Amino acid sequence: MTDRILVFYGSYRSDRMGIRLANYLVDGLKGRGDDAELIDAKAIGLPMLDRMYKEYPKGSAPPPMEALAEKIRTADAFVFVTGEYNWGVQPGLKNLTDHFLEEWFWRPAAIASYSGGRLAGARSNSTWHGILSEMGMVVISSTLTVAQVGQTLDEANNPQGPAGQALARAFPRFADDLAWWTEAAKAQRARHASPY
Ligand SMILES: Cc1cc2nc3c(=O)[nH]c(=O)nc-3n(C[C@H](O)[C@H](O)[C@H](O)COP(=O)(O)O)c2cc1C
Repeated sequence: MTDRILVFYGSYRSDRMGIRLANYLVDGLKGRGDDAELIDAKAIGLPMLDRMYKEYPKGSAPPPMEALAEKIRTADAFVFVTGEYNWGVQPGLKNLTDHFLEEWFWRPAAIASYSGGRLAGARSNSTWHGILSEMGMVVISSTLTVAQVGQTLDEANNPQGPAGQALARAFPRFADDLAWWTEAAKAQRARHASPY
C-alpha cells in the first residue's frame, strides 16, 4: 500500500552533509513504493517562530506555512533526519516543527540521526524522541544512526564502505517498522475519529 511519508531535514548550512541521508531515505522509501517527499526546512524558509500556524485566522497564514500545514495534515507518517549541533538539535528543523502542533497528531514518526563524528547524532536522536512525542506523534523504536555521514554516503547519496553497507542493511527493517505502525494508525483513524 502506498504511504504518504514526509522526510524532514533542517540544516541551513551551505556545506551541509545531512542532505545526503535525507535524499537516501526519500529514494529508499520511494523504492519500496511509498509516496515520499523531502521537506527541506531551508528551502521552505519559515521565519523564526512568531505566530504558530493555528494562531493565524483561517486562510491568512503565509502561503508556504499553509502549504506545509496541508502536507503534514494529510501525511500518513513522518521521518525526521536529525543532525546535532553542540549536543543539541538543529535550530532550523526545530523552528519548522514548532510552527505546528495538532497538524502532527495521530501519526507515527521515525528518527534517523547523523553526524560528522563517530556518535552519529545520538544525543539529538534521543532529544527528538521526546519532542516528537510531545507533538502527538508515536515514535517508533527502530532508528538509524549514521556516523561520519560525509564518508558513509557519497555525493550522489550512495552508501559506501562498511558503514554504508551497514546503513543499507539497517534501512529495510527501519522502513518495515514504520510501515507497520503507519498501517496500524491508518486503520485506527478509519475506525475511530480521534478523541480530540
Ligand atoms: C555548530 C556545529 C555544532 C556541532 N556540534 C556537534 C555535536 O555536538 N556533535 C556532533 O556529533 N557533531 C557536531 N557537529 C558536526 C556535525 O555533526 C557535522 O558538521 C554535520 O555535517 C552537521 O550536519 P549538516 O552538515 O547537515 O549541517 C557540529 C557542527 C556544527 C556546524
